[in-house]
Amino acid sequence: MQLNPKSIYVGMSADLVHPGHMNILKVAAKLGDVTVGLLTDKAIASYKRLPYMTYEQRKAVIENIKGVVEVISQETLDYRPNLELIKPDIVVHGDDWKDGVQAKTRQQVIDTLAKWGGKLVEPSYTDGISSTQLNKSLKEIGTTPDIRRSRLKRLIDAKPVVRIMESHNALSGLIVENIKADNGAEYDGMWSSSLTDSTSKGKPDIEAVDVSTRITTINEIFEVTTKPMIYDADTGGIAEHFAFTVRTLERTGISAVIIEDKTGLKKNSLFGNDVAQTQDTIENFAQKIQTGKKAQVTDDFMIIARIESLILEKGMDDAITRAKAYTKAGADGVMIHSRQCEPHEILEFCKLFREFDEHTPIVVVPTSYNQITAKELSQAGVNVVIYANHMLRAAYPGMMNVAKSILENDRSQEAEKSLLSIKKILDLIPGTK
Ligand code: SPV
Ligand code: MG
Repeated sequence: MQLNPKSIYVGMSADLVHPGHMNILKVAAKLGDVTVGLLTDKAIASYKRLPYMTYEQRKAVIENIKGVVEVISQETLDYRPNLELIKPDIVVHGDDWKDGVQAKTRQQVIDTLAKWGGKLVEPSYTDGISSTQLNKSLKEIGTTPDIRRSRLKRLIDAKPVVRIMESHNALSGLIVENIKADNGAEYDGMWSSSLTDSTSKGKPDIEAVDVSTRITTINEIFEVTTKPMIYDADTGGIAEHFAFTVRTLERTGISAVIIEDKTGLKKNSLFGNDVAQTQDTIENFAQKIQTGKKAQVTDDFMIIARIESLILEKGMDDAITRAKAYTKAGADGVMIHSRQCEPHEILEFCKLFREFDEHTPIVVVPTSYNQITAKELSQAGVNVVIYANHMLRAAYPGMMNVAKSILENDRSQEAEKSLLSIKKILDLIPGTK
């Protein structure tokens, strides 16, 4: 027991705790009383993927590790606010942050500590254990319906904007799961689209594919992925049936359902204005939302109300009135849709909606107004951006061209240049030797 123990600060994400973390904490505990600054979901999501465990779960692990006296939250990647608050004598961090994205943070820590004569101790990083490797193993193990379901709400809370890509079968799901931009950006989750699901089954988008058939496809996607999914339930059917759909989706591990306020034979919103298409009354649709909310079992599942007023040319006032009524009925989010080639009406809706509701998530589907970026939409108040049909639309021109080329040339040599090599196809499937 030290008299006047020194105060030691350790910043950590502590998602997949490994011997490297234990080593840092052991070194820190020898130096004095350890306070762990546990990064919040938001702080972590600002530079890498959302952790598997929630803040509370991670906290429960860390506060039970020997030598940890206190766990406080670190709200940003930047250590300075917490350092200024507790003015520790020593910060302990692995020596693996001298280069790369964290080099700047390290320098800030050194400069801040210098103000009160504190110092930085950097034990050598434990070789052979990497979070990246652990992550890969975790993906191979998969996930559970509970963990997957809860991730959407956590992502919406933690990220300025959540990017969702359509997936209509296991292979397109794997692409959404694993594709990364050069800047490290990834999709946050998947959209089960009524349009692409029915189209890939050769049927029109008129609620002709029943929920069980759709769930079979989703289970195939879920077998090989871990990311959350939002389900397009069209009109949701009659309220009594919608209650069963909610239970089925929830049990499968789907995070959210979107239902649209159309009635009668539903057709796809982008097909052009159809006079036969009618909009449900506000009262009926609000009641359907309430019935769904009553049926849901978990706290994580979200019911999102899709407002078709702009599609059906009913005007902005109607859209806003409905948004108010639907959130009052318990909707966890609103989706506003538009067929216009410019985003003006979507941006106007967001502005008006945010004047009376700061928090309810807004979801958009920028298929026709595709010039606007997800970041710009987020600055306008949007929380979730869905790319609703792009995987399917990307796949089929290629197939049609190749099928035609083989017929025209009576051989496949000419088509070869447009094809993925067999090796690259197999590379899409993790675990292929
Ligand atoms: C879908 O993807 O099936 C949708 C979105 O409902 S949209 O096609 O834009 O109407
Ligand atoms: Mg649809």
